[in-house]
Amino acid sequence: MLAMNYRGPYRVRPDYNKPEPEILHPQDAIVQVTRSCICGSDLHIYHGLVPDTRVGSTFGHEFTGIVVDVGPGVEKLKPGDQVLVPFNIACGSCPFCKQELYGNCHESNPEATAVGGIFGYSHTAGGYDGGQAEYVRVPYADIGPTIIPPDMDIEDAVLLTDVVPTGYQAAEMGGIKKGDTVVIFGAGPVGIMAAKCSWLFGAGRVIVIDHVEYRLEFVRNYAQCEAYNFRSINDPVLFLKKATDNFGADVCIDAVGCEAAGSALQTITGRRLMMQAGSATALHWAINSVKKGGIVSIVGVYGPTGNVIPIGNVVNKGITIRANQASVKRLLPRLIEHVRAGRLNPKEIITHRFPLEEISDAYRTFSAKLDNCIKPILIPPAARA
Ligand SMILES: NC(=O)c1ccc[n+]([C@@H]2O[C@H](COP(=O)([O-])OP(=O)(O)OC[C@H]3O[C@@H](n4cnc5c(N)ncnc54)[C@H](O)[C@@H]3O)[C@@H](O)[C@H]2O)c1
Ligand SMILES: [Zn+2]
Ligand SMILES: [Zn+2]
Repeated sequence: MLAMNYRGPYRVRPDYNKPEPEILHPQDAIVQVTRSCICGSDLHIYHGLVPDTRVGSTFGHEFTGIVVDVGPGVEKLKPGDQVLVPFNIACGSCPFCKQELYGNCHESNPEATAVGGIFGYSHTAGGYDGGQAEYVRVPYADIGPTIIPPDMDIEDAVLLTDVVPTGYQAAEMGGIKKGDTVVIFGAGPVGIMAAKCSWLFGAGRVIVIDHVEYRLEFVRNYAQCEAYNFRSINDPVLFLKKATDNFGADVCIDAVGCEAAGSALQTITGRRLMMQAGSATALHWAINSVKKGGIVSIVGVYGPTGNVIPIGNVVNKGITIRANQASVKRLLPRLIEHVRAGRLNPKEIITHRFPLEEISDAYRTFSAKLDNCIKPILIPPAARA
């Protein structure tokens, strides 16, 4: 089959001869992909920042598809079903899944005690091949995959596998109260969705910070919020304090993660020398811009080892930090309703549709932020016919 093939940092190519996946376990399904996305999280592996990302692996944790085969233990799915597949691989029965912490499944990733399995996200997340391919093996098929409602566009559905739930959970973890001022760092797909969802929780003011002008322009229109370029601000923390009665924001959301720009020291120690698990510039700004007693919600991805963050400020300001991988399955029922009711229009953030064969261009465009790219999706040949 045709599949994305990782060759090393900044190098991916189409592989036309990858063996098709097979049922390996009674609870597996094989899904023929109809749409898949490239995510900001994929950039961390594409840039070589995630340990044990093996040459030859196929990325892609956001996909929809048609079930073509199921193992004998699968009860809820049958061939022909159109499904959206959450990025978390979850067993559904371990103590963490039982608490609906589907991103922290204890069974699906033998390599780690923190994150559960994730499709196409290196061997630190279980070593599963992902959906930037024609076919994918989907374990625990009765748990994650969800039938796409017949009235839903698959391009809305594919964004329900990660971006929408992650943006929504970022806002939810912020504990937003009516009238709160919410500051979101990052105007990528996740930050854009967090801005949109903050209003659903009753925010009174939403401010987004980034340094890519076309993304700031996009989020201003899409989420009807304020948006500022940190390159044109001398000190983002001071700026945000002044913009919020000098107390600071009620809630700050880190939707940037380990590849943040904006501090030479963080960039050198976190991204060049790898002396910490990525640069934590946005997290610094979030901690220092939130008011005393406020909440910092982190969905930006960081590695497992340490980061230089101002923990003293967290303690002395009495900040609550909440963070996790999104628990997609937990959120799907209410998000499907938000999409149906027109309160969320996920597919409007899709700016690029690439044939799967053009995977290298797709990565380059998204990574280098070319051509005003917000969210690129990939379409396999059969889904274009
Ligand atoms: N927790 C989860 O479940 C989950 C799910 C999906 C994505 N993520 C993570 O969320 C983050 C964002 O994802 P995305 O797809 O939107 O990625 P993206 O790379 O498209 O967007 C990140 C944005 O942050 C901006 N940025 C860089 N430095 C900044 C700074 N100091 N302050 C403000 N903005 C800054 C960049 O210009 C970019 O527009 C990534 O770290 C990704 O791995 C987490
Ligand atoms: Zn993703
Ligand atoms: Zn589990």
